[in-house]
Amino acid sequence: MQSPRVLYFRPSCGRVATPKGVSVRNYDLDFLKKFSLVILFLAVVTGGLIWLSAMLHRSVPPQESQTAIQAQLNRIAPVADVYAGSTGAALQAAAAAAAEAQAASQVAYGGTLDGGEIYGNLCAGCHTAGVAGSPTLTQADWASRIAQGRDVLYTHAIEGFTGSTGFMPARGGNPALSDEQVIASVDWMLENLQ
Ligand code: HEC
Repeated sequence: MQSPRVLYFRPSCGRVATPKGVSVRNYDLDFLKKFSLVILFLAVVTGGLIWLSAMLHRSVPPQESQTAIQAQLNRIAPVADVYAGSTGAALQAAAAAAAEAQAASQVAYGGTLDGGEIYGNLCAGCHTAGVAGSPTLTQADWASRIAQGRDVLYTHAIEGFTGSTGFMPARGGNPALSDEQVIASVDWMLENLQ
């Protein structure tokens, strides 16, 4: 008699085998959790720093360099405007008048009326050596000039004079000299002719 067939079912057949390292998997998860926490913490710190710097940037006014400001002002200064047209002419005239007034208000050589001192400080530069055709302190150089009369000499010395020998600048080139000072110098020169 044929022995009946016995069917054996393998209990594990058709099932996925349970991985052996269950504890290892848990260990990985634990590590991942802690690692994520660290990453999260760092992300929060980074975000905080970004926020802080943004706040500071907004609340602290930026420092402007004076040089940069000046350079900018120079760039945008309406140079052409100032010196162009009637506005420019008026401004230039005003500036010239202001400079003249300032020079006139200064006292030359302490306001001395000592013609010799003024001559030594200023007029001698030309007149002692006869620079640029200026008359030296000799009778010969002055005879024809004195003949014009002192008032003319005073006026020429104060206002300036271009004659046949050269150019005499107004007030000897120092606008701070007063009329009296120029006159005193001319007198001193005429008294000291050789
Ligand atoms: C930059 C040179 C220079 C200086 C500085 C100078 N002079 Fe003269 N001066 C001359 C010249 C040049 C002449 C001659 C002009 C001519 O006759 O052509 C002259 C002429 C004169 C005359 C004669 C003007 C005339 O009508 O003949 C007098 C006065 C005079 N100077 C006074 C002075 C006095 C005062 C000072 C000082 C405050 C002075 N000068 C400074 C160059 C100068």
